[in-house]
Amino acid sequence: MRTTYPHYRHSSAASDRAKFSASKVACGYAGLWVLAVSFLFTVLTHAPAAAATLRVDDGMKERVRACTACHGKEGVATNQGYFPRIAGKPAVYLYNQLRHFREGRRKNPAMRHLTEHMSDAYLMEIAQYFSALELPYPSPQPSSVTPTLLARGERLVRQGDKQRDIPACTACHGSAMTGRLPATPGLLGLPRDYVVAQIGAWRTGSRHADAPDCMAQVARRLSNEDIHAVSQWLAAQPIPGKGQPAAPATQSSGIACKDDAKQ
Ligand code: HEC
Ligand code: HEC
Repeated sequence: MRTTYPHYRHSSAASDRAKFSASKVACGYAGLWVLAVSFLFTVLTHAPAAAATLRVDDGMKERVRACTACHGKEGVATNQGYFPRIAGKPAVYLYNQLRHFREGRRKNPAMRHLTEHMSDAYLMEIAQYFSALELPYPSPQPSSVTPTLLARGERLVRQGDKQRDIPACTACHGSAMTGRLPATPGLLGLPRDYVVAQIGAWRTGSRHADAPDCMAQVARRLSNEDIHAVSQWLAAQPIPGKGQPAAPATQSSGIACKDDAKQ
């Protein structure tokens, strides 16, 4: 006689559905709503089973399994498509973003639903888990735009534009562009479309950070052409070393950010 284990059956179907939703979501933005909702249903109905095993050995791996459907195995993502990498980013940065989604300062239905019932302490634990992962980065995305445009992108990133009051991106994101502790993310290894969308979201007011929101000021000073140039150049760069964030800044970039060291 065949014995069936309802829990086991449920969880394998759930993970299949999750994989399916994730790949479909990655294919097109239009289906995001529908698929995210079905995915979330899966995650939420699966949650009690996950919770039961939570405190046994590596409970955190179990807890973040839902994330990997979109963000890739262990949060690595790829530089194609739209999903941002989360592995290895500064913990305070990740924690801030999870709070922003939960509280509507960043808008994404799936991220909102996933975080809406999570406490600050829980979000911090998840942030610390992903931040501590040291994993290889994908290869750069080759660019097909003109050398002139790429040079413009590089100039803006490394030097900014004094006449238009745009600081170098490296002033805050680190000279290697791999981010800066405690709360500035790296700019390499992200999908091009994601970078364009995030800067656009600051300009249109659909992404905010806690005040003072320095990145909003930077974004407002950039033209569409600047954003195009910067995103093309950034995505084509290799990641230096292990891509770890730099030590906290000792000098001000001229625009204050919320998590800057108090002077
Ligand atoms: C249904 C797909 C999906 C799932 C599942 C998902 N995410 Fe996301 N996540 C996204 C998308 C899409 C974005 C980018 C949204 C935007 O445009 O701002 C994002 C953004 C993020 C960011 C911000 C990254 C950055 O560089 O600013 C963090 C942090 C994050 N997710 C963590 C998680 C965690 C932790 C989980 C699991 C609890 C999770 N995500 C599950 C789709 C997903
Ligand atoms: C004054 C400091 C500062 C400068 C200058 C700056 N940034 Fe930022 N940037 C930040 C901070 C801080 C964040 C994180 C904000 C948050 O918590 O949401 C950020 C976030 C970002 C993000 C989102 C990354 C992600 O994973 O979602 C992008 C993209 C970005 N910056 C691009 C740029 C580019 C391109 C430039 C140069 C034209 C630039 N930044 C200049 C401080 C700065």
